[in-house]
Amino acid sequence: MQMISLDNVSYIYRGQKVYPIENFSLEIKKGEFVVLKGTNGSGKSTLAKLIAGVIKPRKGLITINDINTKSRKDFLDLRKEVSIIFQHPEHNLLFDKVYDDLAFGLTNIKIPKDQHKEIITSALKKVGMSGYEQHSTYDLSGGQKQRIAIAGILAMGCPIIVADEPTSMLDTQGKEEIYNLLWELNKQGHTIILSTNIQSETRTSPPQCLNFARDTPSDTNDNSCYTKKGRVISL
Ligand SMILES: Nc1ncnc2c1ncn2[C@@H]1O[C@H](COP(=O)(O)OP(=O)(O)O)[C@@H](O)[C@H]1O
Ligand SMILES: [Mg+2]
Repeated sequence: MQMISLDNVSYIYRGQKVYPIENFSLEIKKGEFVVLKGTNGSGKSTLAKLIAGVIKPRKGLITINDINTKSRKDFLDLRKEVSIIFQHPEHNLLFDKVYDDLAFGLTNIKIPKDQHKEIITSALKKVGMSGYEQHSTYDLSGGQKQRIAIAGILAMGCPIIVADEPTSMLDTQGKEEIYNLLWELNKQGHTIILSTNIQSETRTSPPQCLNFARDTPSDTNDNSCYTKKGRVISL
């Protein structure tokens, strides 16, 4: 069954003349690891936001597990299916305290407060940040901030994670942490949509970062990103 379906989708920003995404169709199955790769301005962020339902198609249809991303009444259900982490770590975190940040997402999807602590503890464990509940988000490294953002998505129980150039602001260690985590979450069954800017990313990334995305170890002549369960969409 298709989990994510884009059918002839077009999007244009207000006041602009060019459609960054035009008549675009794509189907993604549950458990796939899809890499959106392209240069600056190729439309990666626009597509990532469309899939996550942050922006709505001007034309065409996007469904996530049969939920139309345009449907206002299904908004809460959509939030439980898919969430996005953005490129700039500080854009992903709203509160000073890690706990409050994760609790905010849970409140938004109406999870009762008495369940928050257990869910947050478990989500932090999954991203290797156990015990950080009371830490200030300002004191975290970029990689840790992105891991907290991913913990927020896991806390909400989203099976689909959209990561829009999540490592482009990170140092080598941070990049590795995030790629390894996304890879691990995919192995655990999450559907991952990762956008990557091939120009900036592959030059600075440690080679193993993109290895997860290769079909076979010998497939090294370019930085194409394939997984056995996944594929690359070039934008
Ligand atoms: N908020 C915005 N308002 C107007 N134009 C935008 C906005 N965001 C992106 N664009 C334009 O849309 C196109 C695609 O951008 P984007 O999706 O951000 O690409 P990428 O993430 O691959 O760099 C670019 O031409 C960009 O200038
Ligand atoms: Mg972008």
